Amino acid sequence: MIEQKTVGAVDDFIQESLLKPDPVLERALQRAAAADLPPHAVSPTRGAFLQIIARAMGAKRILEIGTLGGYSTIWLARALPAEGRLITLEQSPVCVGVAAKNVKDANLDGSVSIVLGPALDSLDALIRAKTSAFDLIFIDADKPNNPVYLERCLQLSRPGTVIIGDNVVRAGALADAASDDPKVQGVRRFLRDQGREPGLQATALQTLDGKGYDGFSMAIVG
Ligand code: DHB
Ligand code: MG
Repeated sequence: MIEQKTVGAVDDFIQESLLKPDPVLERALQRAAAADLPPHAVSPTRGAFLQIIARAMGAKRILEIGTLGGYSTIWLARALPAEGRLITLEQSPVCVGVAAKNVKDANLDGSVSIVLGPALDSLDALIRAKTSAFDLIFIDADKPNNPVYLERCLQLSRPGTVIIGDNVVRAGALADAASDDPKVQGVRRFLRDQGREPGLQATALQTLDGKGYDGFSMAIVG
């Protein structure tokens, strides 16, 4: 078994070697901690990965489900060109308050819209409004709803849209068919649904970082 101490030390080395110090992102984490938000922001290395994907794709429209304190929001929104837009959905008013401060501190309030409310309601409103398809979608909210978020996201996609789902491995619990954890059952079904969807090519990768053993799914429409 690999020790988390080793994994943490490797992640620290990766961060020190590859990631630039970033006071805005550090303040975003501090504000989230000061407001007692759950410590579920993506790790810096995962944030950088998301930003590289968004930049490589030339994403102009990004949808995020689950804002929390806006940490991954900042990583993703910084990938946008001047005319780009990121919409992020969050049901907790406390999280929205923290995220709004963090996004403003990052000078991204011109390109980021934080939508307060249950994500399902907001997704349905976007579908009803016939909003243009998103280029990149990051699903990182309440895991039991992942299958229904996926279904709605497909309606907000076009051929080429990339859909990334956070936290699908859950320290290995993903493989436990008998799990009574609704989060585990949510991510199991989320992956099964992606595999069954004829209009998707999908995969998932296991990851080890400062946050432990987890993983993400990644799919492309069309
Ligand atoms: C959980 C959610 C997350 O988005 C995350 O990154 C880690 C854990 C959770 O709900 O357990
Ligand atoms: Mg997450």
